Amino acid sequence: QSYMRLCLVTLAVLHTDLTDGSDVTQTPKLWKNEGENATIDCSHTKGPLYFQMYWYRQLPGEGMKQIVFTMSNSKPDYQPDFKEEKFSVTKPDAASGTLTVKDLVAEDKGLYFCAVSEHSDTDSLNR
Ligand SMILES: *[C@@H]1O[C@H](CO)[C@@H](O)[C@H](O)[C@H]1NC(C)=O
Repeated sequence: QSYMRLCLVTLAVLHTDLTDGSDVTQTPKLWKNEGENATIDCSHTKGPLYFQMYWYRQLPGEGMKQIVFTMSNSKPDYQPDFKEEKFSVTKPDAASGTLTVKDLVAEDKGLYFCAVSEHSDTDSLNR
């Protein structure tokens, strides 16, 4: 049996401003074999208000699609095209999160983004 090496390129961005990803870091590039699981880490230093994390992917020749939205202490919210069995996420705290793409196939090769955003409900800021 021959395996194909897959490259998952990952980028971290800020949801509120796609040009400023300076405070967000993510696994830069992953080389994996078909059948393996790929875990992508994302963390940021934007502070505790940025506890919302989005994961996106862009396949070659396609637009960017949202996979899932996560917040610490709540259930991940998956987009209809994406299943939890294939894309599992962790969100242990406000500053970090992971996405694991399971049982890789050639079609999973692409660009993966994590984005963090500030909670937008100003009533809960309690200033
Ligand atoms: C991938 O993850 C699944 C479920 O978490 C696990 O059962 C499987 O053994 C993992 N595969 C590899 C190659 O590690």
